[in-house]
Amino acid sequence: MKLLPQCCRLQVLGAALAVCMTIGFTLQLLGAPFQRRGSPDRLPRLPLLPGGGAEEGGPSSPRPCQPRRHIVFLKTHKTGSSTIVNLLHRFGETRGLRFALPPRYQFGYPYPFQAQRVKGYRPGGPTFDILCHHMRFHLPEVQKVMPPDSFYFSIVRDPGSLAESAFSYYRGVSPAFRRAGSLARFLAAPERFYDPAERGNHYARNLLWFDFGLAPPAAPGPAAVGAALARLERTFPLVLLTEHFDESLVLLREALCWAEEDVAAFRHNGRSPRAVRPPAPGQAAGLRAWNALDWQLYAHFNRSFWRRVEAFGPARLRAEVARLRERRRELAGRCLQGGGPVEPAGIPDERIRPFQFGQAQILGYALRPGLGPADQQLCTRMVTPELQYKDRLDARQFGANGSEGAPGAGGR
Ligand SMILES: *[C@@H]1O[C@H](CO)[C@@H](O)[C@H](O)[C@H]1NC(C)=O
Ligand SMILES: *[C@@H]1O[C@H](CO)[C@@H](O)[C@H](O)[C@H]1NC(C)=O
Repeated sequence: MKLLPQCCRLQVLGAALAVCMTIGFTLQLLGAPFQRRGSPDRLPRLPLLPGGGAEEGGPSSPRPCQPRRHIVFLKTHKTGSSTIVNLLHRFGETRGLRFALPPRYQFGYPYPFQAQRVKGYRPGGPTFDILCHHMRFHLPEVQKVMPPDSFYFSIVRDPGSLAESAFSYYRGVSPAFRRAGSLARFLAAPERFYDPAERGNHYARNLLWFDFGLAPPAAPGPAAVGAALARLERTFPLVLLTEHFDESLVLLREALCWAEEDVAAFRHNGRSPRAVRPPAPGQAAGLRAWNALDWQLYAHFNRSFWRRVEAFGPARLRAEVARLRERRRELAGRCLQGGGPVEPAGIPDERIRPFQFGQAQILGYALRPGLGPADQQLCTRMVTPELQYKDRLDARQFGANGSEGAPGAGGR
């Protein structure tokens, strides 16, 4: 997808949370001591090298489960989902799994997913192992390409910040946002700018509801919404929260029966802190009211998430989150020039420079020079942006001529 160049300062309005996340993550990378103060010193030292106990059980407990290899990740918009895609790409690539790939970078979005959009799909032919690129979810078609024992999961974010991020990012492609000009004007009277029939306006209201492939509820009121969400939860037993990203990674690791190192990832697609503008007071409440379906969806999966945390054990979760952050910090020191995210101008190698979209700069990572062969491979996988990584997987599955178009050329 492409935005025309924008020259409006309001483009940066929605970046605040993303930026806070980037800053918080940078602090983690820098190993700010306060991050770890709460964690017990008696944590076992973990092998931080790849291959340290991947499939043969965690550091303290045997794992009788089998690591899952059939996975459907519904990649939602403006939720930190690119970081999840990176670890799915890595897991699948290192184990030779087959990805269900789009012809370009998305599965016909915003139209509902269709099996025939998957490269190499044949009705009645072999299924795939991992499906994780942007789509509007449509279960019957997904089931045609993925095995019946696939694990389905996704990630959601508070619409009070998600919708603000969407405004900043999609102002050029959503007529409702474009006409309003500013988020404040939009929020003052959204109905004045919003026509649900206009192309591109799915970004302007209840974007999560849309991405999950849900229809507007049959009847107004909590009963119909609750029924739709209960059905959704039967398909998606795990829904992560952007606001609790590291806790989410731990719950994901457990659900997939993966090793701790499999979920250590650097944050992808963060925005430059230079684009910061604090959100206006009251804006979040206005955005939640306008995106009422998304707010109910978020509240529903928030409850499920914390129930899962209770079942996992809050103390155990804290300990594993601390180990995850330590591992990520160690990897950042080992892999990254400067130890953290950098602006695209600081990434000379275009194979790892992230695709730029909208006004705020999208941060990426530069590799430390002189890495040994094993580190070079591991670190490259960790920093490769999703579009270039998808092209690599495509070339691996379909040969050098399998890839169509360069990053940024497609997407709509
Ligand atoms: C999410 O759940 C937690 C724990 O139950 C609760 O404290 C919090 O208020 C909930 N947030 C939302 C937005 O529902
Ligand atoms: C790719 O395409 C070029 C030109 O069409 C052809 O010469 C080459 O053999 C192809 N390579 C593969 C791996 O199919």
